[in-house]
Amino acid sequence: MPAVGMGTALPIPVPHEVTKDAVLAAIELGFRHLDTAAVYDTEGALGEAVADAVRRGLLRSREEVFVTSKLWCTQCHPDLVLPSLRETLRRKLQMEYVDLYLIHWPVCMKPGPITWPAKREDAVLFDLEGVWLAMEECHRLGLAKSIGVSNFTTKHLERILSVATIPPAVNQVELNPVWQQRKLRAYCADKGIHVAAYSPLGGQDWSGSGEGNAVLESEVLAEIAQARGKTVAQVNASLLYNLRFNSGLCSVPLFLHILLLFNINQISLRWIHEQGVTWIVKSYNKERLKQNLDIFGWELTDEDRHKISQIPQRKFVTAMALFSPEGEFTSVDLSEMNVV
Ligand code: A2P
Repeated sequence: MPAVGMGTALPIPVPHEVTKDAVLAAIELGFRHLDTAAVYDTEGALGEAVADAVRRGLLRSREEVFVTSKLWCTQCHPDLVLPSLRETLRRKLQMEYVDLYLIHWPVCMKPGPITWPAKREDAVLFDLEGVWLAMEECHRLGLAKSIGVSNFTTKHLERILSVATIPPAVNQVELNPVWQQRKLRAYCADKGIHVAAYSPLGGQDWSGSGEGNAVLESEVLAEIAQARGKTVAQVNASLLYNLRFNSGLCSVPLFLHILLLFNINQISLRWIHEQGVTWIVKSYNKERLKQNLDIFGWELTDEDRHKISQIPQRKFVTAMALFSPEGEFTSVDLSEMNVV
């Protein structure tokens, strides 16, 4: 699984072509890990972009990219898992297999169309064990090279592990310096489950609350970015100095240093990478996509890591985001479903 990925989750739908162009741009820039889900409605565009990339020679074949998709809550019923993946593959992605198929949420809704948000009364008890066994079947049929989960707590993982013959390969969760998930990561490390991070930059405003982004507005991360920028500029200055005097490259312009300044995004993404966690970030902006890839070849210091470990923790995404505010809860055990 490539260590960094491009996401395609959007709070507001965009035209198919916009997603397709963005995915193509990401592939061109070097992204080899593409993340989608039935509920994002971006599977079709992503599949077309990959096919186009192969036609244009940006990829030798589809095998060169790692594609993740996810089973939506309304399809979280044992008999609907395989048909849902077949729909994703045949009609949307137009691929023979996905590299990774995830249960999107530990939340089950009445069978029905793949829509979001749901009414609260649509939530029903989840046959998690039965759904996992159906996921295993998808793997056995070769339709999903790996299977896993998303937004799962240790409690949900325990339930799966108690019946699994194939344990989940991945748990994709909200993870960033402001929600570090230390306990969950320790648990997953112990069970051999790889952790992937969504919202590595603090996430998008799904509820339209206008709440600020705790990662991009973090003072601690801003300080580290600033200090790191200076350090790197200094290192670079001495490198240029040596070049000038040792090889006569006097014309190397000193303003190149400015390009080496770091920003908060890179500090956050680098920190996640150093934790051994795969990140997936959505941007359809080419400059941002490029910037997000620029996290290799340098490291945070122990002091940076210590400062990040002290950041007050705040979860941003909850399962409440799945439901519209109208409607009443009925016979649902909300704590079990991770809704409260
Ligand atoms: P945009 O899509 O306008 O580029 P998610 O958590 O769902 O992956 O979303 C990531 C959010 O972070 C998006 O709102 C995206 O904005 C923003 N983002 C992604 N890359 C960058 C970047 N390099 N600089 C600033 N914001 C970014």
